[in-house]
Amino acid sequence: MSEFDVVIIGSGPGGYVAAIRAAQLGFRTAIIEKYPTMGGTCLNVGCIPSKALLDSSEHFENAKRNFAEHGIEISELGIDLKKMVERKNSVVDQTTKGIAYLMDKNKITVYEGVGSFVSATEIKVTRKDNSSESIKTRYVIIATGSKPVSLPFITIDKERIITSTEALNLTQIPRHLLVIGGGVIGLELGSVYLRLGAEVTVIEYLDKITPGMDGALSKELLKVLKKQGMKFWLSTTVTKVERKGDKVIVEAKDKKGEVLSLEGDYALVAVGRRPYTDGLNLEAVKVKLDDKGRVEVNENLQTNIPNIYAIGDVVKGAMLAHKAEEEGIFVVESLAGQNPHINYNLIPGVIYTWPEVAGVGYTEEQAKEKGISYKVGSFPMRALGRSRASGDTDGFVKIIADEKTDEVIGFHMIGARAADLIADGVTAMEFRASAEDIARMSHAHPTYAEAVREAALDATEKRALHM
Ligand code: FAD
Ligand code: NAI
Repeated sequence: MSEFDVVIIGSGPGGYVAAIRAAQLGFRTAIIEKYPTMGGTCLNVGCIPSKALLDSSEHFENAKRNFAEHGIEISELGIDLKKMVERKNSVVDQTTKGIAYLMDKNKITVYEGVGSFVSATEIKVTRKDNSSESIKTRYVIIATGSKPVSLPFITIDKERIITSTEALNLTQIPRHLLVIGGGVIGLELGSVYLRLGAEVTVIEYLDKITPGMDGALSKELLKVLKKQGMKFWLSTTVTKVERKGDKVIVEAKDKKGEVLSLEGDYALVAVGRRPYTDGLNLEAVKVKLDDKGRVEVNENLQTNIPNIYAIGDVVKGAMLAHKAEEEGIFVVESLAGQNPHINYNLIPGVIYTWPEVAGVGYTEEQAKEKGISYKVGSFPMRALGRSRASGDTDGFVKIIADEKTDEVIGFHMIGARAADLIADGVTAMEFRASAEDIARMSHAHPTYAEAVREAALDATEKRALHM
């Protein structure tokens, strides 16, 4: 039987990053993945394919709506959805092959098959053809990720009533896409098909979209998406989803209790994801799950069985690729006797709509809830020369700082390139910068980043320069 120091089950961003770091630290490392390609949800049916389609559809949107303003004339514009999806598949293919290369380069043994516990130190790998092999290990890291959830009365038929996975592979542009859930997936994939010409209606249970984001950003995003043509039913409870031939009927109750019936040709169910532990045979080792079905871990990401750890979407916390990566690194560095740390408050959240939305640290609502006395600085993108030059004038930067110390406690933005600019907020907050520290740093002109400096100036002394 082959023996390892660390065996990782699942090759998503949590698992494969943990494997690379473990190999770097000199551990004999193996990774088990049930699918033939590495990279998990994120690389195969999540982050990467969704961004590829978001980018393609954004090019189309720009050509359709914005080129003329820049003096660029196009006489005929068309969409080849098949080609767009093929390009997306090729981006996924290159990226997942890149992970296989990294496994090879770092001398990590890759097993293809379902990993399940025989004991705390023995894992069985069952291949597709039902043949199996067992391996021995000192430590195990469970990194089995998550799967989409549905509502009890919905049957996902994967054709017309779909999850994000199918929405990434449609063969036709929906005429009317009904999106159940106004969270990250609903708005990102809703944006893709809106840009490609679909009518898109979002039905959200709460009174706002993207709950969890700072309220001001959520409001602005709603306003901008409405301007782009997306339709919303907020405070609306879906009660029935029914397929009738090529149509889907969604019945719901709005906040006044009135019943509405919406007809579309596709319904995307995007109401969250659940931790995935099926097939692990956790019963054999009595690893505990919490009340939400997540693998229960302590502050060291260790389960109730001392040599078994768990990371990423399968444990508590934000279901984000970079959070899973941090946790993978944390676990193996801890095993190597190092003292890593993760500041969960500084894991940024990003929504890749256009404009992009990003936030890190406390939202204003959280600051209020925690009784922190705070001040807010903000600056609109439209006041920037850079934004006027590109035409991306929607959105703003909002910086929340401690009233007394001026330390930045929240950094939120909606606007062009917010997904990349949020790294500035993370750096500033990781080094416990004050708003004035940010305001005194030189920001290249003309850039979208200047809005960050201006918002910091506004937070410090209400002295933004260009307002
Ligand atoms: P996963 O990526 O889910 O990987 C788990 C792996 O374990 C899978 O490959 C699975 O096959 C394998 N596995 C499970 N059980 C077994 C077993 N018993 N044996 C062997 N293998 C097993 N996050 C972001 O940060 N940014 C984004 O832009 C983003 N976009 C997203 C878009 C979509 C449409 C979706 C669905 C998700 C998106 N996410 C994004 C979330 C992100 O994909 C997840 O947070 C991330 O993949 C979690 O990583 P993980 O390693 O915990 O698990
Ligand atoms: P989500 O949690 O972001 O949003 C789900 C939405 O559905 C919420 O607004 C919720 O109020 C609503 N909802 C729940 N029940 C409902 C009901 N019965 N009727 C109507 N609305 C209902 O979940 P989503 O969008 O499915 O994404 C899952 C996870 O994937 C997210 O937690 C996110 O972390 C991750 N993800 C991250 C991305 C990114 O970082 N850019 C992109 C896509 C996904």
